[in-house]
Amino acid sequence: MRLTVQVWRQAGPAEPGRFEQHELAALSPQLSILDLLDRLNESLVDAGREPVAVESDCREGVCGACGVTVDGRPHGPQGGLPTCLQGLASFADGATVSIEPLRSAAFPVVRDLVVDRSALDRLIQAGGHVAVDAGTAADANALPVPTDVAEQALDFAACIGCGACVAACPNGAAHLFAGAKLLHLADLPNPAQERSRRALEMTAQLEADFGPCSLYGECAQVCPAGIPLRAVAAVPRERLRSRFRR
Ligand code: SF4
Ligand code: FES
Repeated sequence: MRLTVQVWRQAGPAEPGRFEQHELAALSPQLSILDLLDRLNESLVDAGREPVAVESDCREGVCGACGVTVDGRPHGPQGGLPTCLQGLASFADGATVSIEPLRSAAFPVVRDLVVDRSALDRLIQAGGHVAVDAGTAADANALPVPTDVAEQALDFAACIGCGACVAACPNGAAHLFAGAKLLHLADLPNPAQERSRRALEMTAQLEADFGPCSLYGECAQVCPAGIPLRAVAAVPRERLRSRFRR
């Protein structure tokens, strides 16, 4: 198949950006969008030009490093998949595809398709972790965790931290991400003593870096980890709970 690719080029955070158009032919529909960018970069390098900067790591939907906006949608046209698993089969032969960075005020462009997602890291530093001494592995095995609690923790631990939810939100809110982190740890017995501190510090950081949630629901539509919209409701609920506990 043949595609016309309009790719965002931006030399640095303070430089102006623009779309650059390239024609790519003899593409297999089995290729992913990252493979498409690899093909484009090979042709740019062969021509003595700078390749397009793009982030990736696992290329199997686990790490959250990839993430671009394809035809205006974070990750691409196929719902529930990260960029690395989005196949070219969803485009018609001869189509024009636009590829640009994840767009959000909290994610400034570093170069081309690479954005700075350290605002998500600051949220994790604020409370999305376990800081108490939870004992050794043997201690952990001695602490029964009800199946429904363990399953909730695992469901919400599925968030890969890609940031697509933030880019999809008209307000630039990160409530789906923050809610997933809160629900991942909320009911587990070991970090129970941290629950109130976590909720207060994470929600304060959420307000510092991201926009407010207006329940548009766009976030859950693009989430490759299937984090449900009810994670958003966990943010005000956990904060309220913490205030009463104090
Ligand atoms: S909640 Fe979903 S879209 Fe948001 S960072 Fe986690 S995996 Fe990505
Ligand atoms: S490169 Fe790891 S999730 Fe896409």
